[in-house]
Amino acid sequence: MARYLLIDTATDELVSGLAEDTCVLAKKDHACRRKSNVELTSGIQELLRENPGSFDAVITGRGPGSFTGVRIGIATAKGLACGKDVPCYGVSTLDAIAYNVARSGFLGRLCVLEDAMRCEVYPAFYEISGKEAVERLDFQQRVETADSFFSRIEKEADTWTFTGNALVKYREEAHALSGATYLPSSLWVPTSEGLLAAYHNAAEKPTGDPALLLPIYTRFSDAEEHERTRLGLGSLRVEASGVLEELGGIHEQLRPALLSDAEALSALDALVYEKGGHRPYTAEEFSEMLAHTYYSLWVAHDQETLTGYALGRICKDGFELMSIGVLPAYRRRGLAGRLLDRLAYDGGVLGAKRCFLEVSCANAPARHLYEKIGFSQVGLRKKYYLDGSDALVLEAKLPFLEQSCTTQTEKDSREKAPVLEAEQKARAGSFPKGLILAIETSCDETAMSIIDNDGNLLANVVSTQIDFHARFGGVVPEIASRKHTEALVGVFEQTLLEAGCRPSDLDAIAVTQGPGLVGALVVGIAFAKGLSVACGAKLIGVNHLEGHILANMFENPELKPPFVASIVSGGHTLLVHVKAWDAFEVLGSTIDDAVGEAFDKVSKALGLGYPGGPIISRLAEKGNPDAIAFPRAMLHSHDYRFSLSGLKTAVVTYLAKEERAKRAVNVPDVAASFQAAVIDVLVSKIITACKETGVSDFCLGGGVAANPALRNALTEKLTQLGITVTLPALQNCTDNAAMIALVALRKAHKGDYADLRMDAKPQLSL
Ligand code: KG4
Ligand code: ZN
Repeated sequence: MARYLLIDTATDELVSGLAEDTCVLAKKDHACRRKSNVELTSGIQELLRENPGSFDAVITGRGPGSFTGVRIGIATAKGLACGKDVPCYGVSTLDAIAYNVARSGFLGRLCVLEDAMRCEVYPAFYEISGKEAVERLDFQQRVETADSFFSRIEKEADTWTFTGNALVKYREEAHALSGATYLPSSLWVPTSEGLLAAYHNAAEKPTGDPALLLPIYTRFSDAEEHERTRLGLGSLRVEASGVLEELGGIHEQLRPALLSDAEALSALDALVYEKGGHRPYTAEEFSEMLAHTYYSLWVAHDQETLTGYALGRICKDGFELMSIGVLPAYRRRGLAGRLLDRLAYDGGVLGAKRCFLEVSCANAPARHLYEKIGFSQVGLRKKYYLDGSDALVLEAKLPFLEQSCTTQTEKDSREKAPVLEAEQKARAGSFPKGLILAIETSCDETAMSIIDNDGNLLANVVSTQIDFHARFGGVVPEIASRKHTEALVGVFEQTLLEAGCRPSDLDAIAVTQGPGLVGALVVGIAFAKGLSVACGAKLIGVNHLEGHILANMFENPELKPPFVASIVSGGHTLLVHVKAWDAFEVLGSTIDDAVGEAFDKVSKALGLGYPGGPIISRLAEKGNPDAIAFPRAMLHSHDYRFSLSGLKTAVVTYLAKEERAKRAVNVPDVAASFQAAVIDVLVSKIITACKETGVSDFCLGGGVAANPALRNALTEKLTQLGITVTLPALQNCTDNAAMIALVALRKAHKGDYADLRMDAKPQLSL
């Protein structure tokens, strides 16, 4: 006999049940609007208490439905399955509705119509010929506008009976169709019974691997949808992860050139070949080329800026690569290689078997690239270029041997955090085996770590999604939530492997409760709750900001309040007086942009990539911090507030002014001067805070804490004043779960646990 947990949170009906084989034993299905993260796991725990015994598998609705809603059910199911090491099966929520209708005795043709929001519906058609006999008719799994659906269905409306939650909004429309009937509202939603029957009768048994269980998405994130329109990519099918994978890791995009690019192309050509080479093509010449099909012309762009281009044409010997260039700031990122791939592909499509080009003897980077792809020399043209250098004639077979590719990066690290002996003794015996799993999903890092009772970090895994956000110049919340849902199980398994323990060894599950992106937080929290129930482990909610402060304990285990801490990240700029481990006084924060945000925006204004912090700080090393006098906002405001948007505006204004004056901008100088302005204000307020509170310790946290110039300035200025400065190791500056684990350990020792109704707190403060 097999016992199943049943979950579906795709609609406003929260489905949670417990079944044995084909029979639902107990259930708590109920209407629950936007509260499933609060009510789901506590309900499941009650079901398991009232019906003692374990479960052998979890069955979950995959939607379609509310994206966040579906993710809550799926992340909880993943947690339950991982915690018990049992399979987890996904079922279409639409099927669950259809099977529930079949159980009611309905016979005939059924159209389940789900509300896909934004005036769109998600239709699925079935033929029902018995209580367990449900046949899918047209199951394309795609959204369409309600208008188009109702006009499409008009002629055959009398052959269908409608159900589904789209009727809440579109009952009138359905009613207006001649001859159409619809079911009573009690049959519009999925139920435990429907879900179970859909699972047992599925034509294809889903894999039970919780890692592979993902929501059914009906569209990409808005950011990706807009990008798709802008790039003219047409309509793409939403693949399982719900994120455009092939564009991940790519900051700059490629597309075929358009007539409207002609001016910009001409300017780019002139810039790239300013030192000689060929006479730049005019805008008219580019327009002319675009009109002929034997030319191939591709551009690389970062948002609206053209960053590179490649031009080729078919001629009698094959495909000639005429010109290729990339803006200086965008070189060494593989753009030229990617542009070349596109041209070569076009060349092949146009029928060429060989591709040839001329390259200057003196251009070592280009020659290296061409060799790598498979070009070899077939000729030499003496003194061919304007600067007198020789041209090599290179040739390669089409298609090329090698192509450029990108992968998602994954960093992980491992370290020990010794705790004071006295503290260690005090703790002994206070917590059974004392293994805590900590989970962090507040922004764009899916991170987990395991810490033991003595503060030893047994595992620390971080999977970053930055590659999927970079091309948008910032974190896209919907992509973050999707990527967390996808990464949870892999990161969990890796973490357990590193620590060498099993799920049943975990005594507590800690998770970031806030602040952060709400959609991202709930995924981690739902997974944590599922694990907590399945492992019988306690639940701990952690404040992310406290984590950033405690990350300093890895460097300085002796760190003790009172001290002053500053958190500087993409989302925060805080100055905090830590009076005791649980007594924080926020002295001040930013009134507009966060420090990291300012770095990111300035980087964007300079046409550089994301995240901006590391790029700006590297450039700043080569620049003069006194070159441009940017404002030090609120330096003399006599309080601890910060303002950074004015500084960003000053940089943008400066760049515009230089452009109007046709003066070349010295990018390293701008970076260095901007950075100096930020650091001056930060350091000055930190010094005042340390003096006024009379502390002798200071520590830093957050992504910007990785900035070398800020670290040096703080160390130098504060040490002079006799203040001990602790700086987190570089890998502990950005988001990670080790810091969450440290906070959790303190909470565990105090017995400060959360209950299963815990919800995300996106605005949580210290
Ligand atoms: O703490 P974090 O990883 O994420 C948030 O919670 O926001 O911080 C990311 C921020 C980004 O804005 C990034 O540009 C900035 O930290 N950052 C830096 C440096 N490295 C990362 N800012 C200045 N200098 C750096 N070296
Ligand atoms: Zn953070």
